[in-house]
Amino acid sequence: MKRYLIETWGCQMNAHDSEKMGGILASRGYVPAATAAEADVILLNTCSVREKPESKVYARLGQLRRLKERNTDLLIGVCGCVAQQEKAAIFRRAPYVDLVMGPRNIAQLGDLLDQARRDGRSISLARDDDPVAFPPDTAARGPGPRAYVTVMEGCNKACTYCIVPYTRGREVYRPPEEIVAEVESLAGQGYREIELLGQNVNAYHSGADDLASILRMIDRIPGVCRVRFTTSHPGHLKRGIMDAMRDLPTVCNHLHLPAQSGSDRVLEAMRRGYTRARYMAKIGYLRSVVPGITFSTDLIVGFPGETEEDFRETLSLMREVEYDQAYAFTYSPRPGTPAADMDGAVSEALKRARLQALLGLQEEIQARRNAALVGRAFEVLVDGQSRMDSRMKKGRTTCNRIVHFEAPQAARGSLVPVRITRAHAHSLTGEPLGAGGGLT
Ligand code: SAH
Ligand code: SF4
Ligand code: F3S
Repeated sequence: MKRYLIETWGCQMNAHDSEKMGGILASRGYVPAATAAEADVILLNTCSVREKPESKVYARLGQLRRLKERNTDLLIGVCGCVAQQEKAAIFRRAPYVDLVMGPRNIAQLGDLLDQARRDGRSISLARDDDPVAFPPDTAARGPGPRAYVTVMEGCNKACTYCIVPYTRGREVYRPPEEIVAEVESLAGQGYREIELLGQNVNAYHSGADDLASILRMIDRIPGVCRVRFTTSHPGHLKRGIMDAMRDLPTVCNHLHLPAQSGSDRVLEAMRRGYTRARYMAKIGYLRSVVPGITFSTDLIVGFPGETEEDFRETLSLMREVEYDQAYAFTYSPRPGTPAADMDGAVSEALKRARLQALLGLQEEIQARRNAALVGRAFEVLVDGQSRMDSRMKKGRTTCNRIVHFEAPQAARGSLVPVRITRAHAHSLTGEPLGAGGGLT
């Protein structure tokens, strides 16, 4: 029996790409390996959005080299965004790598493995406008209840700090029929929550259809009880999508809407294409039409030229929106991006200090928001056992809060009404309500 190990860095698109790669390997008779030492194929699915994850890839390759010395049959592959960015240079820096595959080439994985075994090496990288072909339903997904579904690939934006358009290429959109067929099949297999994926998911369009029409099609599919989508660009968050969030019972009342900065000056230098006021207008509209909606965001500190005043604008944006979660990063110059050549670099020490201040504020906001939920009841979609306590189950609310509660009988994928009894920084604890408990 041949065994495979896939190690995944980066975003949800990469996590799902790894499931697709696992599916291809499974169709060729491979089974998952528990450790790198017992694997016949090791694939690193990599991320190059910041320098740190990228340098980790080479560090990890250095470790894997020793396994390769012991087991000459072992195949090592570098996939994902670092592969697309570094191309054949990976073979030069790590000559024991057998396979290099870009994120748009996943469907070729089987052939690339054969070629690497036969010729000693294989490489496949997409061009910018190559189509992304992927047969639905072959991904090796987890047990659910959540399943990722790709709706589009690539990004046509040109944020000045970002490498993603270079690694993922131009936007391509899956036909609606394919998306619907995959969701129907997943619903039939018992998946209850669908997360639609795309680097710029709300830019989706195909003929007359846009993301709002896809959401409406999925809303009608029996068995699907929740739908999320990520990542949304504020500029593409059109009224139709916001109204679909208001109207469709399956669409969750949480939105990840990366702001990146609260300063118009920095947003302009980032070429994000919106102002703080326009961002806030969308948040305001959603708050007015989707009761209880929560927001999360991505923020970058220390973009070139970011002054103390600019940074304070980001803190004030966080206070104004009151995010439930903020993923914050220090700016990392990426080769070939316009921002890498901009003046006004912020020192690493100052970047770190700003990040700490930002995270401190976010903790405060989260603690306050979570504390206000004690006593309220939510419907929780059970996704498994709590890691903190073996008697506890855990799941998420539609507003994306993690809830732990004691309910030995509650099955994965069931919806349980839970009253919140305690608030923590990143999660909530509650007790299941009996019949007639009612939700508030
Ligand atoms: N498509 C999404 C996110 C893509 S990358 C969007 O437009 O929002 C995920 C996050 O990484 C970004 O939102 C940004 O906050 C961060 N990021 C991207 N490039 C970065 C860089 N060079 N340095 C630091 N953070 C970066
Ligand atoms: Fe990067 Fe901007 Fe595209 Fe997001 S929208 S992937 S931040 S270029
Ligand atoms: Fe990283 Fe590529 Fe995703 S750079 S964040 S894995 S699109």
